[in-house]
Amino acid sequence: MKSMNTNQPKVFIKTYGCQMNKLDSELSIGSLAKSGYAFAEEEKDADVILLNTCSVRDKAEHKVYSQLGSLRDQKEKNPELILGVLGCMAQNEGDRIFKRMPHVNLVCGTRMFSKLPELLEEINGTNKRIIAVDEDGEVSFDRLVTQRQNRYNAFVSVMRGCDNYCSYCIVPYVRGREFSRPVTDIIDEVKRLADDGCKEVTLLGQNVNSYGKGLNGEVTLATLLRKLDPIEGIERIRFVTSHPRDMTKEIIEAVGELPGVCEYLHMPAQSGSDKILERMRRQYTSAHYRELIEMAKSLVPDIKIASDFIVGFPGETEGDFEDTVKLLNDVRCQNSFIFKYSPRTGTAAAEFPDDVQEETKKGRNHILLDLHKKISTEENRKIVGKSVEVLVEGTSKSDAGRLSGRTRQNQIVAFDLPEGSNQAGISSLMSGKLVNIDIVDSTDLTLFGDLSEIAFDKMTH
Ligand code: 5AD
Ligand code: SF4
Repeated sequence: MKSMNTNQPKVFIKTYGCQMNKLDSELSIGSLAKSGYAFAEEEKDADVILLNTCSVRDKAEHKVYSQLGSLRDQKEKNPELILGVLGCMAQNEGDRIFKRMPHVNLVCGTRMFSKLPELLEEINGTNKRIIAVDEDGEVSFDRLVTQRQNRYNAFVSVMRGCDNYCSYCIVPYVRGREFSRPVTDIIDEVKRLADDGCKEVTLLGQNVNSYGKGLNGEVTLATLLRKLDPIEGIERIRFVTSHPRDMTKEIIEAVGELPGVCEYLHMPAQSGSDKILERMRRQYTSAHYRELIEMAKSLVPDIKIASDFIVGFPGETEGDFEDTVKLLNDVRCQNSFIFKYSPRTGTAAAEFPDDVQEETKKGRNHILLDLHKKISTEENRKIVGKSVEVLVEGTSKSDAGRLSGRTRQNQIVAFDLPEGSNQAGISSLMSGKLVNIDIVDSTDLTLFGDLSEIAFDKMTH
């Protein structure tokens, strides 16, 4: 058994939930590496197991509790193993985690990540139990560029927290108040990423298009995009997630005008019914959402839209749900993330009776999923026969004989190399490069293409 006192104790981090969590795990990996930790490929080889968790729906928390339960044996066999719960669920559940899971050593909330190395050091060798969920803790944006998992894409946090208090959402309670990062810090980080070979940055914020609130000067997401666009080496800039209430013409114009900013907008509608939107406290109407989409499609003709929808919100009638179906049908989203409503204790909506039956929620979920599949199949088919720009990410996950990457509109493209070409080494040679791919086939999720021989020769010689 390895002890934390030997050189290079090994950490395993498992991440649940959204992109912000992925980034937090990455930042933690950076700060732990700096403090002398190595990383285990599998839980069974780790001296420290950290679960970075999500609270947005009940199911996400259940998953973590069941994972913690299944780690009990490993902890019994190796009492020196440190087991920690990080992030949103740590903040939300606090010492309930200790009560339910006596083998957990650390509960570390969303604002205490920067303290991780010290907290682990304090527990090391003592089997102490520490709970660190201070709401005033300092949120650190620091990153070690070299710790990124993929050289070519990076998440960059531009703001954290959320002040919106949508009635169903736990995020403002677990992530705290909205807080924008200074422009110069973001520019510096993006420049460092570019120097390190990064080609694509995704700017992250729970409410990314209200970026700039609380900062001095006239800073908005639109002005930030204009400052980042000229940075040499960065070919693509994305930003997620946008709130319809805070979307402006200036932001959409920036998407249309700036060559680096991708024609992709993730802007959750949540519902197509004005009655439900009001109960959700979303502060816009379905007509306003449609106007924004129309503006986006007219100012940025190639734009693709992604949206989130919640079905079965308290009081949602068949008619309200039909309004949502109609909205999805009209907007024709490329990506739709569809969720069954899950009451979260402490939120305003948790006070409403959860009156849509589970069977009805399931049925509505299926209807929207099917509609989404139909729309994305049809939309992708329109691209067959066209040539698209792809940022190559590497060997395709579903087919080792192909390479894959993404279009500017975030579609996955899998493509074959010219016949007879040597697969070995080609993946690493082409990863991180922009290539034009002729699309020959499609499904709802993937575009399939060929790399022309000419393009292939250009890339490899
Ligand atoms: N129940 C179901 N879905 C939810 N979301 C947020 N809170 C809840 C909840 N209580 C969804 C919203 C949000 C996405 C990240 O998760 O659609 O945009
Ligand atoms: Fe939650 Fe609404 Fe904030 Fe999004 S904008 S994180 S749904 S409260």
